[in-house]
Amino acid sequence: MAFKEGFLWGGATAANQYEGAWNIGNKGVSSADCCTRGSRSEPRKVTYMTKEGEIKADVMFGLDAPEGAQFGCFEGYDYPSHEASDFYHHYKEDIALMAEMGFKTFRMSINWTRIYPLGYEEEPNEEGLKFYDDVFDECLKYGIKPLVTLSHYETPVGLTNKWGSWADARTIDCFARYVETVGNRYKGKVEYWLTFNEINCLEFGGWMAAGVASRDPQKIADAGKHQLLASAKAVQILHEIDENNKVGNMIGYGMIYPYTCNPKDVFQTWEKFKGSYFYCDVQARGYYPSYKLKEYEQKGIQFSLTKEEKELLKNGTVDFISFSYYMSNCTSTDPKVLADQGGNMMFGVKNPYLKASDWGWQIDPIGLRLSLNYMYDRYQKPLMVVENGLGAQDVLEANGEIHDSYRIDYLRDHIQAMHDAVSLDGVELWGFTPWGCIDLVSASTGEMHKRYGFVYVDYQDDGTGNGNRIRKDSFYWYKKVIASNGEDL
Ligand code: BG6
Repeated sequence: MAFKEGFLWGGATAANQYEGAWNIGNKGVSSADCCTRGSRSEPRKVTYMTKEGEIKADVMFGLDAPEGAQFGCFEGYDYPSHEASDFYHHYKEDIALMAEMGFKTFRMSINWTRIYPLGYEEEPNEEGLKFYDDVFDECLKYGIKPLVTLSHYETPVGLTNKWGSWADARTIDCFARYVETVGNRYKGKVEYWLTFNEINCLEFGGWMAAGVASRDPQKIADAGKHQLLASAKAVQILHEIDENNKVGNMIGYGMIYPYTCNPKDVFQTWEKFKGSYFYCDVQARGYYPSYKLKEYEQKGIQFSLTKEEKELLKNGTVDFISFSYYMSNCTSTDPKVLADQGGNMMFGVKNPYLKASDWGWQIDPIGLRLSLNYMYDRYQKPLMVVENGLGAQDVLEANGEIHDSYRIDYLRDHIQAMHDAVSLDGVELWGFTPWGCIDLVSASTGEMHKRYGFVYVDYQDDGTGNGNRIRKDSFYWYKKVIASNGEDL
């Protein structure tokens, strides 16, 4: 048997994409709550009021808002996180469905704005704390271990409006207070924690990853430093609260190949890889890598660490490494290749050997086996694949069935790749939590109809739907996979 006994089979979600109830129970407004619905062709936007009192909406990826903008939600805009899949009112039903599939773990995030609505209060919001108590109790009733992300694209906009969020060092203490609060409150209920979801997305998604409304490389570097320090602090706090706590990081990992064997393409591939490795290097090794310091020097970015900060990074390394993996891409230095592909792919150059999803994400299970090997080789720490899956448009048949064989094919091939990485390559893997196990809102486009789940949620992009939960074919298939500990694919 490849996967060890106790392997953490489960599924993954994030509060802002799944919970809904955005303004219930004294919850504050998070960065995600200000993002409008988009589509594959129409980018999501972020809404704010200018100093002059004008209400505006600018693109989420690469947001560069004017000084003094106050972010929030305004009438006339469609914000998908506000209702999402309404887990807030469906959690008992949803967790029962997870239990029926045999989940051993459930990855979810605590929405920071439920606990500290503005981010900087002294006292937490009891109603928010109580909600997660209920959720964790419900999981534990079925023997499901919660795997909790502390920050999954849900920075309180109170912090952005006050001092620019993570670009300001004061946010570190606010985050530490929040971690201390939830660490103490859920001691004995939660043992597995992740600090920042896809922390490396900060490089291109300052708003999403950190509530930073600027493209200024200095601000992005500052926000990165502050999140890395906060991540190390979170590891220390959670270890002090309970020695059983296991704290991991979370990296958005996409496999990258050179388009040709031209050494220039190969070198560019390495340059791109560093975008993923940098944050992980700091979180796993406890210091800034020399290549990053050189990059800052060359770009004129101011950077320094005090003796105490260096100590903090050194003593706050993670216990395990987690990452998301959906696809691979190619990179090329040849202008002709780039021109031919002309914006075809969101993330890179198209690989002629691979098929892609309807959203252009290239399907590549061998890329997952490679990713596991690269990560294990580099860090020698246990790994978890905490996101993987196929975003697709499902059809709800007249008889109430959903035949998602394409999703089963995708997941079967990726689980086989993990199986090979463990049994043939010797990678230490703790768990697998495919993304959006119960349908939820897409992060990049804000669409509901880009579905990942084993369970269909009857909500549509136009706001219709009754929220009913319906088992897809993949539900029964995944149940069988878990029951056989990954042998019966
Ligand atoms: C990861 C994020 O990048 O990919 C999730 O951690 C996200 O929040 C997932 O939902 C899938 O992306 P999308 O855009 O299809 O929702």
